[in-house]
Amino acid sequence: MEIKTLTWKEKELVLVDQTKLPVDVEYVACKTLEDVFVAIRDMIVRGAPAIGVSAAYGVAIAAYEITTTEFDLYKTELLSQCDYLNTARPTAVNLSWAVEEMKAVINGYEGQSVAELKALLEKRAIEIHEEDIMINKTIGKNLLSLVKEDNTILTHCNAGALATSEYGTALSVFYVAQEEGVTLHAYADETRPRQQGAKLTAFELYNAGVDVTLITDNMAAEVMKEGKIDAVIVGCDRIASNGDTANKIGTMSVAILAKHFNIPVYIAAPTPTIDMAIESGKDIPIEERDGEEITIINGEYVTAKGVKTYNPSFDVTPAELITAIVTEKGIVRAPFKEGLQAIFK
Ligand code: MRU
Repeated sequence: MEIKTLTWKEKELVLVDQTKLPVDVEYVACKTLEDVFVAIRDMIVRGAPAIGVSAAYGVAIAAYEITTTEFDLYKTELLSQCDYLNTARPTAVNLSWAVEEMKAVINGYEGQSVAELKALLEKRAIEIHEEDIMINKTIGKNLLSLVKEDNTILTHCNAGALATSEYGTALSVFYVAQEEGVTLHAYADETRPRQQGAKLTAFELYNAGVDVTLITDNMAAEVMKEGKIDAVIVGCDRIASNGDTANKIGTMSVAILAKHFNIPVYIAAPTPTIDMAIESGKDIPIEERDGEEITIINGEYVTAKGVKTYNPSFDVTPAELITAIVTEKGIVRAPFKEGLQAIFK
């Protein structure tokens, strides 16, 4: 069964509801900017690149939604809708990157035609969507140059096709390997609390015919010690200019373990996820989510109701634990600051 993460259909954004996978495959049509905002906030769509592409379409939808034909008023209202959309989730920089790309179209437009601006915004959103596919495929090829036939790769969370327009970032290596006739094996961390590894990564790789083994998060050290893992490949939500990388909570633990067992850690990183405006991971806002993601499993409390929780959704892996940052523009190794600057030149 082919699952489309996001589709643009006659001025509507159609998203597969990732909160229902893998039990139900249901699609949600976003017809208003508010629909897109809620889909991002409530993780119907999730994963940094998919959030970015959805946000671009969200602005295109807002552009069609606003009814005033008085140009200055139209522009002011649209820019304020952009700022609102940008607040849907804090950590993945792709959201603000995409919103800024769309604002650049609005602010760069020199005409006075509302109709023309609407068409330009839809065109830019479609371009961002198409670029994301090409970026991911190229990252997959670059990752494939770092691994060998029959290697086993451990991944955390879901940085697959479901987290992007197609291919995924971290998981693109498996799809490109399939296209090129290379055999790779995957270990997927379950990824508590929302289980993106179990519900999404294991699901999409299994469906695609990739050899995938699911483990719980606390098994990573053991499988590494048993010599089962050749490389760790994960996605990212924001990379600071010094290489510090925010990704799903638990990524830092995997990177610390990998260092102990001398296993390389590769970050699959589309350039829109690199935030050159910030110095280090200290500047990355970390989303904190509802404690009920921890206390409730399958609709039932597994703890005493009211027990205190702490639920940061992301952590920042320090650059020194990262072997390479693999982008569509090349593979960057330490010193990351200089390497990242070079790919943006
Ligand atoms: O909270 P989520 O599911 O949006 O978190 C997703 C991740 O952390 C992914 O690993 C990251 O966005 C990379 S997706 C290509």
